[in-house]
Amino acid sequence: MIEVDRVSKRFGHLTAVDDVSFFVEKGEVYGLLGENGAGKTTTMRMMATILRPTSGDIRIRGYSVLSEPVEVRRRIGILFGGDVGLYSRLTARENIAYFGKLYGLADDALEKRVEQLGEMLHMSEFMDRRVGGFSRGMRQKVAIARTLVHDPDVILLDEPTTGLDVTAANMFRRMVAHLQEEGKTILFSSHNMGEIERLCNRIAIMHKGRLSYAGTIDALRDQVKMNDLDDIFMTMVEGGGR
Ligand SMILES: Nc1ncnc2c1ncn2[C@@H]1O[C@H](COP(=O)(O)OP(=O)(O)OP(=O)(O)O)[C@@H](O)[C@H]1O
Ligand SMILES: [Mg+2]
Repeated sequence: MIEVDRVSKRFGHLTAVDDVSFFVEKGEVYGLLGENGAGKTTTMRMMATILRPTSGDIRIRGYSVLSEPVEVRRRIGILFGGDVGLYSRLTARENIAYFGKLYGLADDALEKRVEQLGEMLHMSEFMDRRVGGFSRGMRQKVAIARTLVHDPDVILLDEPTTGLDVTAANMFRRMVAHLQEEGKTILFSSHNMGEIERLCNRIAIMHKGRLSYAGTIDALRDQVKMNDLDDIFMTMVEGGGR
């Protein structure tokens, strides 16, 4: 479903992503791990056609980010952590609907979809309030709904739980499980090994732009003969991987 094929991205002299390949199956929840600056966000931006690979290609459901970006965009929803860039003068409902319009959803279908997302994310109480006064978790819910408004097959979540409290993080995990049941393919990045382990079987670990591991968490445990994921992670990044 997501095929990363020898992708590199250079910014001037800096190689942010260096010859990275991995594959995410349909219906899989796949983890992307790495320290700050490892190249996770850059990789996800290339998947979403926001950045163009310097070399290599990424295919989403067979569509190339290089030659078929419009097809790719239609099938992808992306959520970035941190400041999510909502319109503070619009309500939650209006923010979500605005994005649906950008994706060309018809008014009645859009109305239904927004309502459905509001229920799924437990946002009913604040759907018609302006986003300006929202807490971080409330804003994050709006951003998640916006990511899902066009019902994408592939969902990219870049550090989605940063800044969420325990309740919101739990809600998020249930949502991921729900999306997986719907057959969605999910790639999400995190620094939090515990969270990755709860949701994913397979992971990719990036270090300084390079891929240091791609495969199951179990196989990784066997390979390094350690149990604690934080220890494993440190070993993988200190050893530089390959
Ligand atoms: N638009 C850009 N111009 C120049 N350099 C960039 C740009 N975007 C990213 N980089 C650089 O590419 C490298 C990888 O950054 P990236 O944001 O992909 O890392 P990350 O793994 O997402 O890190 P974090 O965990 O901190 O979010 C960093 O050295 C970063 O400074
Ligand atoms: Mg990042």
